[in-house]
Amino acid sequence: MHILASLSVLIKIMSRKIIIKDKIGYYNKQILVPGDKSLSIRWVLFSSICDGVSIAKNLLMSEDVISAVNAIKKLGIKVKIKKNEVKIYGKGLNGYKYKKNLIINAQNSGTLGRLILGLLIDTPYPIKLIGDKSLSKRDFKRVSEPLSKFGANFKLKKNKNLPLKIFGSTNLKAIKYIENKGSAQCKSSVMLGAFKAVGTTIIKAKKSRNHTELLCKHLKLPVTIKERKNYDEIKVKKVQKIKNFNYEIPSDISSSAFFIVMTVLSKNSKLVIKNVNINPSRIGVVTILKRMGANIIFKNKKIYKGEKKADLEIKGGKKLKPINCPSRLNSGAIDEFLVIFLVAAKAGGISYFKNLEELNQKESPRLKWAQTILSKIGVKTITSTNSIKIFGNPNLNIDKRITIKNYLKDHRVFMTSVIAALSFGGKWTIHDRESINTSFPNFLKILSKIKKNFYD
Ligand code: S3P
Repeated sequence: MHILASLSVLIKIMSRKIIIKDKIGYYNKQILVPGDKSLSIRWVLFSSICDGVSIAKNLLMSEDVISAVNAIKKLGIKVKIKKNEVKIYGKGLNGYKYKKNLIINAQNSGTLGRLILGLLIDTPYPIKLIGDKSLSKRDFKRVSEPLSKFGANFKLKKNKNLPLKIFGSTNLKAIKYIENKGSAQCKSSVMLGAFKAVGTTIIKAKKSRNHTELLCKHLKLPVTIKERKNYDEIKVKKVQKIKNFNYEIPSDISSSAFFIVMTVLSKNSKLVIKNVNINPSRIGVVTILKRMGANIIFKNKKIYKGEKKADLEIKGGKKLKPINCPSRLNSGAIDEFLVIFLVAAKAGGISYFKNLEELNQKESPRLKWAQTILSKIGVKTITSTNSIKIFGNPNLNIDKRITIKNYLKDHRVFMTSVIAALSFGGKWTIHDRESINTSFPNFLKILSKIKKNFYD
């Protein structure tokens, strides 16, 4: 009996894969996807440095956000998680309980790993930051370099990677920083560091998602922003106090993107996704797909604490055109490109996406993954280190076995593969289903509401 029990555990562990044999078919549905990941992590970090109790509703309960919660708990911040709300008992800007030999594990989350370093630049004891296999391959020099200008010191593996050690300083001075990758994580990390530094930090940042700026504005922090054509000039003064605040996190456009694409690729299905964050710096996926001919509209637009939100209505069946994607749309769609490429695969012509070097800096090298997935479905691509040409085929229909194994367990590789299987057909075995826990634990459950038992 014992042997049988352990055998069944073993089978469960080994079978973290799903098998899809049929296309999704017609549907007309309304869904709700979970809270936005960027906003959830920011809310956790900001609440931890507020004075008093902050409450969030619809906080994303995925591994990345739970890692953020665990990180602030390690720093002595109390957190209460109930079914519908999360309470964080902030202790102010200087409220972290720094201890000797502290280790913070950011797991898979670049956003957590990079942003939290900004808040730790005053630690009196060295803190070790670690992450999982994927995060340990990613570039942390991009934040340690600017943060060390404030006065903190860093020791990184191979000068660039995790694990790293941060040595804080009590003599932190404002800096000047040029952010030229279009990375919101770098920009935000420096903005958080500036909260603790004497003087005015001046950041010239290439356009990227601006949730941190909007939160600062909502919290009336001493931050000013001048928007120029290609970059923003952000000035941040030392912060004295942050008042506690409640937040109802809108749904994540990046999680919605999988359903948007599936519907765009469908014959004539219709989908409504309720209450989605449509911050203009995040809706690149909608802009790009509309240019390709997709039918997507925003309904019931509202503004909530500086962030825009709306219901998305998507209809399938439109003829899809190829796109020569302007690079200025890249940062607003950076997490969605893998799934956007599926639409290019079905467009009537050659699409071209360029200046995408940042795509290979994600949870896994996603430009390489794009090439792999598209070649598996028989779509020709020409890729360089930072661009991809996709030779679309409007009659794309797969009738073969396809296996996807993604050893860095990139959640977006898994979910894109599922959408490809449901849209183009074929017999797919997709491994690493546990990867969805990073950003979208109920992804398969929501899909099952659209089509029951769609996978084995
Ligand atoms: C994020 C910024 C982006 C994005 C990531 C979340 C954020 O990363 O890819 O998923 O919340 O600031 P970069 O800053 O590396 O572009």
